[in-house]
Amino acid sequence: MNDPLLAFASLLTPEGRALLDEVRGTDPAQELAVATRLRREHPAELVSAALGQARLRQRAAAKFGAEDAERMYFTPNGVEQSTRASVATYRARCFRALGPRSVADLCCGIGGDAIALARAGIRVLAVDRDPLTAAVARANAEALGLGELIEVREADVTEVDTDGYDAVFVDPARRGGRGRIFDPEAYSPPLSWAVETALKAPHAALKVAPGIPHEAVPEAAAAEWISDGGDVKEAVLWFGTDPGTVRATLLPGPRTLWGRGLPDPDVRPVGRYLYEPDGAVIRAHLVAEVAEDLDGGLIDPTIAYITADALVLTPYATAYEITDQLPFNVKKLKALLREREVGVLTVKKRGSAVEPEELRRKVKPQGPNSATVFLTRVAGAPTMLVGRPA
Ligand SMILES: C[S@@+](CC[C@H](N)C(=O)[O-])C[C@H]1O[C@@H](n2cnc3c(N)ncnc32)[C@H](O)[C@@H]1O
Repeated sequence: MNDPLLAFASLLTPEGRALLDEVRGTDPAQELAVATRLRREHPAELVSAALGQARLRQRAAAKFGAEDAERMYFTPNGVEQSTRASVATYRARCFRALGPRSVADLCCGIGGDAIALARAGIRVLAVDRDPLTAAVARANAEALGLGELIEVREADVTEVDTDGYDAVFVDPARRGGRGRIFDPEAYSPPLSWAVETALKAPHAALKVAPGIPHEAVPEAAAAEWISDGGDVKEAVLWFGTDPGTVRATLLPGPRTLWGRGLPDPDVRPVGRYLYEPDGAVIRAHLVAEVAEDLDGGLIDPTIAYITADALVLTPYATAYEITDQLPFNVKKLKALLREREVGVLTVKKRGSAVEPEELRRKVKPQGPNSATVFLTRVAGAPTMLVGRPA
């Protein structure tokens, strides 16, 4: 039974399900002992498929929550590539608010988005060309009681007719699209195909890497960058609504900051407070909007730290009260931290090549107090700003 499809199908049999229940939450350290015991009663392939699935469920709990993850099925790539439930739920609600009652989810993977759409009351056609992935998506729809709303189809999305659906959602597989490399044509299917498909539908959303250059956003799209718990997760290009707009949405909120087309903020000396904008705000190029709301300016034209004299509560940036500003100098920092008896040092950096761990090793913080040091540039000069969360 080396065929992964057969191995997966065996997990859906009564024996497979019983075994999955039995291995739920198996401690990885105990896996070998558990496997040896279970192999006395069950086929070896089934035992290893069940243990593999249990491991994937544990990994998936961070994205889907333990309750759903324990009932769902995964593939290693499927866990990796799926949209986390918080983001998928937010997006599904956006779709719902726009009006669509049916969505063609093109490139559905194991069903992260399809599940959230169905739970928002939307009928879903979920398409993936990988046979195992499609089988897993189908099993997930059943396992979560959403089989009535989700039709899973194993097909190449470029050959699927989406007429008759109110909206299209595309989450292409991103190969080599990580980090700095961003070649949307290396997506599968390519971004150009996804855009063309989106333009033909009444409503559409395309999930793209958060590093998408703003120049690559089509004019007809509304671009949204999404972070969850402060971590940037993705960008979405919406079609059929708010063309040419830019926004940043922070989850769990959700809190959405819309672009107002502001020019770059002015640069000014470091004031009493330093604000670190959320990553989604930075990626969406909305630092100027936050600076205006804070009555603040930049500490350097190329650095996304905002300075202001007043403490203003905003969900879009974290505020720090700055106590010291010194030119970059490790010895001076060490002396200052010793004087302040700082034992817990948080190192943040923007525009500095220094490794936070290395700096912490060098300054050997000791004492009962805590502080945050920002390694950055102020008006071009390498600078250290010391402070604490406001
Ligand atoms: C990023 S994953 C989708 C994840 C999904 N949104 C979720 O939350 O679980 C992309 C999927 O696209 C599928 N795929 C890539 N090219 C495809 C094509 N031309 N036709 C159908 N599926 C395709 C891959 O098999 C992969 O499962």
